Amino acid sequence: MSAQLDLVIFGGTGDLSTRKLLPALFQLHRHGLAGRLHRIVASGRSELDLEDFHASVKSNLHAFLPAGSWSEEVWDTFRQRLCYTAINAGSAEGYHALGKLLDEGEAPARLFYLATLPSLYGEICQQLQAAGLVNGDSSVVLEKPLGHDLASCREINEQVSRVFAENATFRIDHYLGKETVQNLLALRFGNPLFQPMWNNTFVSNVQITVAEDIGVEGRGDYYAKTGALRDMVQNHLLQVLSIVAMEPPASLKPTDIRDEKMKVLRCLEPITAANVKERTVRGRYDAGAVDGKAVKGFLEEAGYQDAEGTETFVAIKASINNWRWAGVPFYLRTGKRLSRRYSEIVIEYRRQPFSLFANDPNELTNKLVIHLQPEETISLHTLNKKPGLTHRLRLQPVELHLTDDSQARGDSYDAYERLLLDAINGDQTLFMRRDEVETAWHWIDSIIAAWEENGTPIKKYISGTMGPNASTALVAVDGRAWYE
Ligand SMILES: NC(=O)c1ccc[n+]([C@@H]2O[C@H](COP(=O)([O-])OP(=O)(O)OC[C@H]3O[C@@H](n4cnc5c(N)ncnc54)[C@H](OP(=O)(O)O)[C@@H]3O)[C@@H](O)[C@H]2O)c1
Repeated sequence: MSAQLDLVIFGGTGDLSTRKLLPALFQLHRHGLAGRLHRIVASGRSELDLEDFHASVKSNLHAFLPAGSWSEEVWDTFRQRLCYTAINAGSAEGYHALGKLLDEGEAPARLFYLATLPSLYGEICQQLQAAGLVNGDSSVVLEKPLGHDLASCREINEQVSRVFAENATFRIDHYLGKETVQNLLALRFGNPLFQPMWNNTFVSNVQITVAEDIGVEGRGDYYAKTGALRDMVQNHLLQVLSIVAMEPPASLKPTDIRDEKMKVLRCLEPITAANVKERTVRGRYDAGAVDGKAVKGFLEEAGYQDAEGTETFVAIKASINNWRWAGVPFYLRTGKRLSRRYSEIVIEYRRQPFSLFANDPNELTNKLVIHLQPEETISLHTLNKKPGLTHRLRLQPVELHLTDDSQARGDSYDAYERLLLDAINGDQTLFMRRDEVETAWHWIDSIIAAWEENGTPIKKYISGTMGPNASTALVAVDGRAWYE
């Protein structure tokens, strides 16, 4: 694993590379963490002069690096590692040029990062193999989305697996690169305090929210065919759910952690035509205001008039049928043009059997709140005595912050830095295994089939709110409210 490695990025001129991958690689280089990494070979379809490419990367780094990260000296050494070669996915010519470039270097190991349309992944892998570029020390990173249903996901996985073994395949879900998601493992399995109470005896419900305040922006074509369920729940929300709900793994080895996540996904109760009405809500944003600015509705945004069947919001009441979680609803929701951008997990504990306190109608509960973005913090909501002489024993909520200042800043590193570093070092813990992704699709496909069978309507919501009223009702029928 210590051999030097060349990283080849397909889609090296695209939006993801510009905003995330190249800044993350610059940061790893700046912090001296990219030790194994020899060269970065970016590719796109156009022939580009290396100096022009460097100039454009430099200007993009200025735009997308966190404040205070730029250094001319670091750039000088980073630039020397950064090459460019033109490759059109379907044409053999570019792969031969890539082969020559790789042979000129001294790095025996190769990591191919596929940040292009997923429909090209199979072709790229096959061309890499045909050109003799896949050696015994080669691996591949696949960006999301992996298909739009189980069948298309399987097809991509099949094509990739003809060239790369599963232990050389890294499927990205950038939520797994977030510090607080990893911290959840430390919190759960490092503290005897939480483990005995992490079950249906003590936990009343779990809420996972991934809220965006933006609309579909320039991704309308993709989004109109995808919708919130496929775009967000299939990957980010189910990955987070599986880490919250998993059993303690046998060890911290990737296989042991991924085995436990996989068991959770297999225990998800299917949502079918019989229960989809009580278990899901679909929504679509209408005109409204976000951050004081008037915004159009999804259908009015140029070009999406045909997208009447696409949801931009989804809320789900999921159940995990196993001994630990039977009877505990996992409420999931995600949407666009909501009131603010944030992602969080809320573990709400059960109420006490009765309350001794006069001012407490037994509505205040203990909660563990894990904020994933914009800040990455964890807080425990407890109840304390209201201070003062005038109040005898009356309760008030108090938040205990469980993360230190460096974590609270949330900008200590980007998820892509963590994930690129792990892929470079061959650590698969924070990447999705094939069976996880396919099991998640299986569960999602059943919901989509149920929506189609029942003609489940898409409810409108005003931009700048937290989704349709039906989302409030989804939890209210259980005597609960979304934590906001
Ligand atoms: N952007 C994000 O924030 C984001 C987030 C999560 C996942 N992703 C995923 O990451 C991937 C890339 O997204 P993106 O937003 O960066 O897309 P993008 O801006 O459209 O860039 C696409 C890249 O692919 C290259 N490309 C297109 N067709 C090609 C072909 N036939 N052969 C070789 N290269 C080709 C383009 O190169 P040229 O145009 O220079 O030829 C460009 O570098 C997609 O799978 C997307 O779903 C993106």
